[in-house]
Amino acid sequence: MKDPAKLRLKPNLQGYAELRKKFKWSDAEKMVDWFPGGKINAGYNVIDRHAKGPRRNKIALIYDDGEGNATKLTFQQLFEMSNKFANVLKKLGVKRQDRVFFFLQRSPELYSGFVGAIKYGAIASPMFPAFGPDAIKDRLLDSGAVVLVTDSVLKKRVYEVKDQLPELKHMIIVGQDVAPNEVSWEKEMASASAMFETVPMDPEEFMYMLYTSGTTGKPKGVVHAHKDIVECHLSTYWVLDVHEDDVYWCTADLGWVTGVVYGVLGPWSNGTTQVGLGGRFEPERWYKTIQAYKVTVWYTAPTAVRMLMAKGDDLPKKFELSSLRANYSVGEPLNPEGVKWAMDVFDNKPFHDTWWQTETGSILITNFPEMPIKPGSMGKPLPGIEAAIIDEAGKVLEQGEEGNLAIKPGWPSMMRQIWKNPAKYNEYFRNGWYYTGDTAQIDKDGYFWYVGRADDVIKTAGERVGPFEVESALIEHPAVAEAGVIGKPDQLRGNIIKAFIVLTPGYTDSPQLREDIQKFVKNKLAGHAYPREIEIMQKLPKTRSGKIVRRLLRAKELGLPLGDTSTLED
Ligand code: PRX
Repeated sequence: MKDPAKLRLKPNLQGYAELRKKFKWSDAEKMVDWFPGGKINAGYNVIDRHAKGPRRNKIALIYDDGEGNATKLTFQQLFEMSNKFANVLKKLGVKRQDRVFFFLQRSPELYSGFVGAIKYGAIASPMFPAFGPDAIKDRLLDSGAVVLVTDSVLKKRVYEVKDQLPELKHMIIVGQDVAPNEVSWEKEMASASAMFETVPMDPEEFMYMLYTSGTTGKPKGVVHAHKDIVECHLSTYWVLDVHEDDVYWCTADLGWVTGVVYGVLGPWSNGTTQVGLGGRFEPERWYKTIQAYKVTVWYTAPTAVRMLMAKGDDLPKKFELSSLRANYSVGEPLNPEGVKWAMDVFDNKPFHDTWWQTETGSILITNFPEMPIKPGSMGKPLPGIEAAIIDEAGKVLEQGEEGNLAIKPGWPSMMRQIWKNPAKYNEYFRNGWYYTGDTAQIDKDGYFWYVGRADDVIKTAGERVGPFEVESALIEHPAVAEAGVIGKPDQLRGNIIKAFIVLTPGYTDSPQLREDIQKFVKNKLAGHAYPREIEIMQKLPKTRSGKIVRRLLRAKELGLPLGDTSTLED
């Protein structure tokens, strides 16, 4: 129970029940700036409007390279940097709605380039810097990316697949090692004009895209429109509850939707000062970051919370963390223990769980600052969002019944497309609802409780991994004849990836072979998307049509009943 009298600041959202009744999206549309004729640009809203107003010299970004070296940039400076990058794109002849991808560590270049591309009217997309060549190729090829901004180190991975990317015209390189056929970021930015007229876009034109995993097939390109900014803005204001003097820190990389929406768009649209931390997760460094920049609002993920918990309570006591006002988490179920731990360690500042997806484009269900938190619950839908638990036929289920978590379509930040794949897009929408792929239930007070995934998607350390991608990478290894991949529950990571494999005749199992297979997948896909466990099988359970039945692998692993096996091969 929170004592409202003890909250340091009055929450932006007051009177949830009343707001649910009277709120209209047209109210939220007034919170962002529009161009004449109903045009809008999300990039204008996150940077330009502040650079043109009283927040001009306010710090927008405190970028820490991970070693405690900070670069501070004002809204005016980011305005100029993003303008310059837009001019670089213009000089290269990039067209409106061309795909401009970023494969960069978190850096001022990444932030300003991403916003600059959006202001220019391109479709921007950051990729996670831990991606390997296959993951990079899948994304650049499917999207038909025309420009890739990367650096002298990461570009090596791109060159492993570059000859398979006919549409990729320009590689912009941050750093010194620039080949003659590449474009130098430093050189072009130095000569580019700092003046640029942000392009007024139709609200439905595309702003950014991010690839995410489903059960089948390669990662799919989830595309978001400029109009998203309305909801990115409002949800940051209501849920993350930013106030003018806050120092906000979102720990997610820009390669994930949380990093884009709540590490760039939402906070800056609200004119908030935010911290961006480079380098890897390290508990001491994280506490140091809160202390050094006096972070007041913190948005992170359950795996990180569990890792911090595992380091013990003595470590946080060594730091001055009293600046924290509110903590949030997203990406996987937040254990009640995590909420309670935060109450103890951060002086009664619990974690507020938030629920959303790459496809939803912003937080849809959450524990609001003004409300009591139910530890273990995702909270309640935002005003303007209709969420329900429904069955396969679309029937709305009773309170307490478990079923598909579904949302009434039409919220402003809903994905607009799965890139080049209308059939995949349409699969989400049935019986007048958007099916989230999650199962959940609602309690008597209207709080939503997460149950699990309705499909085979694996959430490992908060990252979404498709079993198909891992299986495809596995069978490219000469020793692997067949592979089936599942998520296996894990205390720290939520799930780990477990692979069941059949060896190619002639190969024998050994610790070295397993390690070699793990390394192989890691190098192809990404540091987080490899099987931490491998089990060798003589045979995998398959349907008569030859499809591996992951459900049975899961049942075997967890000792669950096998269920209906009538469609099996044998
Ligand atoms: O299964 C749900 C889980 O993460 C999925 C969405 O993953 P992604 O698109 O990568 O976006 C993550 C960050 C926005 C959901 O379908 N998930 C997300 N938030 C929660 C969650 N599971 C339980 N509790 C949450 N709060």
